[in-house]
Amino acid sequence: MATEQSVPWWTAAAIYQVYLRSFADGNGDGIGDLAGCRAHLAYLAELGIDAIWFNPFYLSPMADGGYDVADYRQIDPQFGSISDAEALITEAHALGIRVVLDIVPNHCSDRHPWFVAALPSKPGSPERRRFYFRPGRGPAGELPPNDWQSEFGGSAWTRTTGPDGLPAEWYLHLFAPEQPDFNWGDPAVRAEFEAVLRFWFDRGVDGFRVDSAALVAKDPGLSDIGETPASYGPGMHPFVDRDEVHEIYRSWRHIADGYPDKRALIGEVWLPDQERFALYLRDDEFHSAFNFDFLCCALEAPALRRVIDDTLASHARFAATTTWVLSNHDVVRHVTRYGRGKTAFKMDDRRIGEASDIELGTRRARAATLLSLSLPGTAYIYQGDELGLWEVEDLPEELLQDPFWERSGKTDRGRDGCRVPMPWAGQAPPFGFTDNGATPWLPQPQDWKALTVETELLNPASMLALYQSALAIRRREPSLRSRTFAWEDAPDGVLCYSRGDNVVVLVNLSPEPVALPEHDKILIASGQLWGRVPPVTAVWLRRK
Ligand code: NOJ
Ligand code: CA
Repeated sequence: MATEQSVPWWTAAAIYQVYLRSFADGNGDGIGDLAGCRAHLAYLAELGIDAIWFNPFYLSPMADGGYDVADYRQIDPQFGSISDAEALITEAHALGIRVVLDIVPNHCSDRHPWFVAALPSKPGSPERRRFYFRPGRGPAGELPPNDWQSEFGGSAWTRTTGPDGLPAEWYLHLFAPEQPDFNWGDPAVRAEFEAVLRFWFDRGVDGFRVDSAALVAKDPGLSDIGETPASYGPGMHPFVDRDEVHEIYRSWRHIADGYPDKRALIGEVWLPDQERFALYLRDDEFHSAFNFDFLCCALEAPALRRVIDDTLASHARFAATTTWVLSNHDVVRHVTRYGRGKTAFKMDDRRIGEASDIELGTRRARAATLLSLSLPGTAYIYQGDELGLWEVEDLPEELLQDPFWERSGKTDRGRDGCRVPMPWAGQAPPFGFTDNGATPWLPQPQDWKALTVETELLNPASMLALYQSALAIRRREPSLRSRTFAWEDAPDGVLCYSRGDNVVVLVNLSPEPVALPEHDKILIASGQLWGRVPPVTAVWLRRK
């Protein structure tokens, strides 16, 4: 039997995602930074989280919010310095908070020294082999080398200019043109990332979130996707989820396991097929991966039950840690999603501007919070979830920064609306996010006055109070930290399950109030109970 000591820290952790640019500004330039985050670590400790995951804070021209990394060992000056990062890690650890960084292996920035060196180098040179440079198709090479499309829209290839000023080879970028893809067939790329992992592990980092993990390996022939992608066998798509990718993460796991204390590897793996997804969770690969099926699921009992069952089943195969995610920096905030008629989410159909009843969305978000924080495994909280922030859908077009906006021909407003700076205090923007009269890099809605940390701390009925209490109970109750989960009988539209020896959770998503299951004590409820559990309400109960 595993002792408390030998259970890895992430198995029942609440991990809080800090999108640094929008968390807190420490130097009054309108952009969140490490100093601002350090000043608010006490807030996070009081919230009751176990770890922070930072989106990339490395040196970056910010073509994709830092996912275009120019140096994996340096901090971007707008965020601070390496010594700020080291101090933050030490201070977080002193508060019992672990630190997880984001690593971006699929691509770097076009300002990364390797890409800068590749551009003037000859076709076929070692400098170019670290990326994918290819001649174009068509009589004058005027067509991209293949039919792959960028995730942000348009071709995944950009043409370079030769030393003679004439159009020359093309290079591959599955995301923005400023994000050239690495060629993982080149041993230098492998060695470099292994060294980067060690660099940060040696500085006390407790784990990595692996960006775009399933895209890293490419078909060496760079074959066309063609008209019928469905005809590819598993692991045979030219760039999604190829079998070769697993070897890379096995070597990373070996490095993580080489450290005496537990270092986590968490995959960002978007795959429709649970079987293929689970392969990333084998004993010698990632410890866990984000549960996007749960995030995208409609807030309806049958669909949720199916996702929970599938998740538990696919993870049981390898005893991997399950995860529960409601929001992150790439999706429409769940208060807004849940306030819509259709609550399911699709990455390629954000439905920005579609009517959303924020009051209903907030009530649903409260119930969903007690659902996600009571399931076995790691729970993720995206900054601002704990305040009940909604998606800001009316940002002025000229301020939009997400590459989705331009690359989609201004049809997809992209992800800026979930990245608006946090409201900390006060009656008007910038709500304590920044000072010295600086303007936050994205404007906050005046209505967030009711959602500041300062206001919510004073209100026992606030979203923040719900998170604080739920996280405290989760820490206190061994049943909620256990892996034991069993469904209990419940009417249609209601989820009811036991956790561990003595906790029962009921989430009423039906239109009728339901009776409270037999219990000894009510631990917490997402809304008023009136002796029964009203619709859109969740409750945690303890039995003797
Ligand atoms: C996934 C990240 O979460 C997203 O923000 C980013 O744009 C892409 N990967 C590319 O790095
Ligand atoms: Ca700043």
